[in-house]
Amino acid sequence: VNVNHLHRTGFHFQPKKHWINDPNGPMFYKGLYHLFYQYNPKGAVWGNIVWAHSISTDMINWKKLEPAIYPSKPFDKFGCWSGSVTILPGNRPIILYTGIIDPNNTQVQNYAVPANPSDPYLREWIKPDNNPLVVAVVDVNKTAFRDPTTAWWGRDGHWRMLVGGKRKHRGIAYLYRSRDFMKWTKSQHPIHTSANTGMWECPDFYPVSLQGENGLDTSVIEKNSKHVLKVSLDVTRFDYYTLGTYYPDKDRYVPDNTTVDGWSGLRYDYGNFYASKTFFDSGKNRRILWGWANESDTTADDVAKGWAGIQTIPRKVWLDTNGKQLVQWPIEELETLRGQKVGLSNQKLNMGDHVEIKGITAAQADVVVTFSLSSLDKAEPFDPSWHNAQDLCSQKGSTIQGGVGPFGLLTLASEKLEEYTPVFFRVFKAQDKHVVLMCSDATSSSFKKGLYKPSFAGFVNVDLSDKKLSLRSLIDHSVVESYGAGGKTCITSRVYPTLAVFNKAHLYAFNNGSEPVTIDNLNAWSMNNPVMNK
Ligand code: FRU
Repeated sequence: VNVNHLHRTGFHFQPKKHWINDPNGPMFYKGLYHLFYQYNPKGAVWGNIVWAHSISTDMINWKKLEPAIYPSKPFDKFGCWSGSVTILPGNRPIILYTGIIDPNNTQVQNYAVPANPSDPYLREWIKPDNNPLVVAVVDVNKTAFRDPTTAWWGRDGHWRMLVGGKRKHRGIAYLYRSRDFMKWTKSQHPIHTSANTGMWECPDFYPVSLQGENGLDTSVIEKNSKHVLKVSLDVTRFDYYTLGTYYPDKDRYVPDNTTVDGWSGLRYDYGNFYASKTFFDSGKNRRILWGWANESDTTADDVAKGWAGIQTIPRKVWLDTNGKQLVQWPIEELETLRGQKVGLSNQKLNMGDHVEIKGITAAQADVVVTFSLSSLDKAEPFDPSWHNAQDLCSQKGSTIQGGVGPFGLLTLASEKLEEYTPVFFRVFKAQDKHVVLMCSDATSSSFKKGLYKPSFAGFVNVDLSDKKLSLRSLIDHSVVESYGAGGKTCITSRVYPTLAVFNKAHLYAFNNGSEPVTIDNLNAWSMNNPVMNK
């Protein structure tokens, strides 16, 4: 095996080679899914950015097309950065994207339209001469002015879209309005801003239904919904969202008092996941979330591999029944890749046990498990000063004995556990409730030097009255993408084992808490390879 291919993924979205970052302009059009993404056609480091383009019938198998947008005009000569698609009445898709117009990174907002709308692949895109549509006015920082959203249509006959920005340390989502999609006017006030959050990259703004898991078209404004505002904060490199109310008459968004702006806010994913974007899939009436997972190895490693960056598995996203957070789950189409299956049930795990899950390809697998706790009495006390889940996980790793937990999975493990990436829970007892911590800890994932090996973690706001906790992990050579409690807390890790590769990778379930836990049910599948950008 070529060592440079040890960590290439089997079923995550990747082009054949070179650098990728943000997903751009995802859409469903005439029965096909389109994904564009930031791509360097010349190498495995960021630069020379174009919009690469792939199509799919299921968002799992992908066909590569030629780049849709690349620098060619004065209004995008130095780069074609992130943006979105809006489907105009009459089923006419239009791209809004950020063009870089000079070596100082001055940013403007452009549009592009299909050259031939009857081509279902939409291979060729035209950038008309009335570009740019939007340039920064004097009091807007023109090097922090980018990533236009999908536009939505108001009953007053105006389109609206957001552009990310900042003023000093204040993050801003600028609002623009237009009647004809061509002439855009900046609104007096942004739709929302927040102090000390830095640049708001890749804003995303959409409604979610108060009932059920179906998605809503981006233009839906109704009583029975809330809105989500997501921003990518370039200081911490995580994607944060709030839930709130959109007031169309005032064109303001007000977050609920249960959610907060900024670095202590809710995240889509508590691991390596950035610059995400959703779209409404009118084919299956769901909202789909795409996010980018960068490498955690070195630039030199990336150059040696010849590639860098993946897109995480597309996720269905909807509002939790508690109305206070979103829930995410891998799209059902992923299950078509499931092959060889093994199962376990009613398996007790005493303290110190680790049980191997044999009979599948542990380096490329889908694992779903439900743990049952006999009692929560032994839960360790929770110190209310513990605000940062990642710090807590780095102190209380998978080998640090606890009361209820740590228990979970050891993924990408070498036979003698020299290398492993544990994904696990630990339950604490606070004043009048339990606090559940979920970790995906890369600390022991590899012997390799120079890697970024964080103890990613998030709290899980789950009701433990049935004393059950579920976990799903998508394991894919250098990816461990995990969904706790049915998708309430998600964590994606990038890891680069040296021993736990291919058929030398193992999978275990473990418990290092004094309270025994039982695996109610565990199913694990080997995952087949989809057609990936051939
Ligand atoms: C986010 C981002 C965007 C920008 C693009 C450039 O990762 O920095 O703000 O448009 O990447 O590739």
